[in-house]
Amino acid sequence: MRSPAVAVLVAAGLVAAMATVGCGDDTAARTAPSTPAATEAPGLQALAAPHGVRMGTAVRANVLAADPGYGRTIAAQYGIVTPENDLKFAPTEPQRGRFDFAAADAVVAFAERHGLAVRGHTLVWHRQLPAWLTEGRFDARETRAVLRAHIAAVVGRYRGRIAQWDVVNEAVDEDGRLRDNLWLRVLGPGYIGDAFQAARAADPEARLFLNEFAIEAPGPKADATVALVARLRAEGVPIDGVGFQAHATPGAPSGEALAGQLRRVGRLGLETAVTEADVRLDVPATPAALARQANTYRQLLEACLREPSCHTFATWGFTDAWSWIAKTFPGQGAALPFDERYRPKPAQRAMAAALRARR
Ligand code: XIL
Repeated sequence: MRSPAVAVLVAAGLVAAMATVGCGDDTAARTAPSTPAATEAPGLQALAAPHGVRMGTAVRANVLAADPGYGRTIAAQYGIVTPENDLKFAPTEPQRGRFDFAAADAVVAFAERHGLAVRGHTLVWHRQLPAWLTEGRFDARETRAVLRAHIAAVVGRYRGRIAQWDVVNEAVDEDGRLRDNLWLRVLGPGYIGDAFQAARAADPEARLFLNEFAIEAPGPKADATVALVARLRAEGVPIDGVGFQAHATPGAPSGEALAGQLRRVGRLGLETAVTEADVRLDVPATPAALARQANTYRQLLEACLREPSCHTFATWGFTDAWSWIAKTFPGQGAALPFDERYRPKPAQRAMAAALRARR
């Protein structure tokens, strides 16, 4: 047992570390994480390996640097990590043609030290773009050159080291049309195929994904996304898979709905992945809500386990200390499988149970 005095010192050090993390966006942890990884061995990844599924989490380079317990928990529990923001357009190309890979390098080096795979997120999106691009008023020729050069530089830097890329993110709107974004406005619908071609050229081994939210249940958006990827395949565009973000609330989507959508995509010969799962709750969360959340996590994971196309199940972070939810959905939070001190919640135990039961 650690003496109280040591515990206080450790806690004080972590508070200091959290303060320097600063993060800039989302909520800072209300409670400083305790020491390591309150992990119950074996971790989720060890339990998932026999299923041929990798368990993943989003990761932040700044927290990794500030808090050793954060990285220890990830290494003990997961098999694949996704930089939450560090590979996005604005952070990696803050000025045209000038790249900054410091944060992404740190995440990839961490993954390699611990034998974890990496999902690259994301090359072409309508958010987190640098001002030089959004305000640049570039014509189609120049915008195409920007897109291709960005992909060549970012994917090329990590050639052979990033297993999966979210090449295009959130390209479809809720009505099932292509989203009205800078890329579509200037380049037309061909920007999607173009981006996949550029990614394939930069790393022929990486698995290339279209990543989307709110396609986990039937509807116009899910239909349009399936139609889009079927068309891309027919045109010979080098796409390997579809990522289902799966930002959920208790019971929605149901495991059955998700399994059905994974199957539709799997039937096209594409891989599927759950890429950003979280299950947000009204905070403070009650024990009953945490139990419903656990059940939802279990259902979503089971959907992936029973669909042969699904090889990755990643959550958007793992600890309630670091999650995008509080800032994006005021009044909600507690969305992840570990609490603010990295202790497993009912959700983590439910996923572990699902992995054990289906072996
Ligand atoms: C979010 C991050 O979690 C936040 O830290 C950031 O401020 C905004 O972006 N869908 C995606 C992710 O594909 O990139 C988003 O990540 C969450 C929604």
